[in-house]
Amino acid sequence: MASIDPVPLPFDPARLPGLSERLLRSHWDNNYGGAVRSLAKTREQIAALTKDSPPMLAAGLLERELTFRNSVVLHELYFANLGGSGGPADTLARDLAHAFGSPDRFEQLFRLACSGLYGGSGWVVLAWDHRSSDLRLYASGQHRETVSLGTPILVCDMYEHSYALDYGAAAGKYVDAFWQNVDWATVEHRLAGARARPETPFARVGSDDQSARGRPRVSTTNGNASSPTIGTTATHPRIDNEAGSASVLIDATAPTANGPAAATMRPAL
Ligand SMILES: [Fe+2]
Repeated sequence: MASIDPVPLPFDPARLPGLSERLLRSHWDNNYGGAVRSLAKTREQIAALTKDSPPMLAAGLLERELTFRNSVVLHELYFANLGGSGGPADTLARDLAHAFGSPDRFEQLFRLACSGLYGGSGWVVLAWDHRSSDLRLYASGQHRETVSLGTPILVCDMYEHSYALDYGAAAGKYVDAFWQNVDWATVEHRLAGARARPETPFARVGSDDQSARGRPRVSTTNGNASSPTIGTTATHPRIDNEAGSASVLIDATAPTANGPAAATMRPAL
């Protein structure tokens, strides 16, 4: 069985304003590291199952694998979208405006979703929905947090271990610090990568009618709908809004990989 190695913190934890090194190292060591170790242990237990194992045991272990797998990936995405500053640049700002009305409205909804999880646990996730080809915002009190065919773009950990060492129960101050440290270039890169992947699960092999369900609808500059070629990495729909109303162009030169810059690209599992 492949080993599971934790991914190092992608930034210097002593240099994030509002989030202490003690907090970040504890979060990485104890919570992310704990999820990595629990995932490995769960996979060992699954590997030991036999045809005579209790079915409820098997189902429980497989559910635990889903929980820990998501926890590992969400933590890696969370740490990787920290370490920046400023706000979303032009392209991402236009995408957020297209999806939510304006970047400020997105921030308002994001903070509102975070506040709904104060004092408890969970994740707030901006995701690209491959089924409907749009950005959506999700919140959940546990690790199984997002739409089934979605790619997380921006991830905020709202478990108390993310902030209690620095802020006690004042979770709002943590959300302020999180927002201050978002790496928007990574967020934009993830979105470009998610857009580059066509939604293939709905396409039936051998069928000519792949457009009935599942092919991303792409609005061309003249307002007509078309679909990018499924199964190629050479197409990359992107929002290119010169005049204020969103239109989508095919850009074969845009990035096709999901994730942040090479130095922090992962997950490794
Ligand atoms: Fe966490």
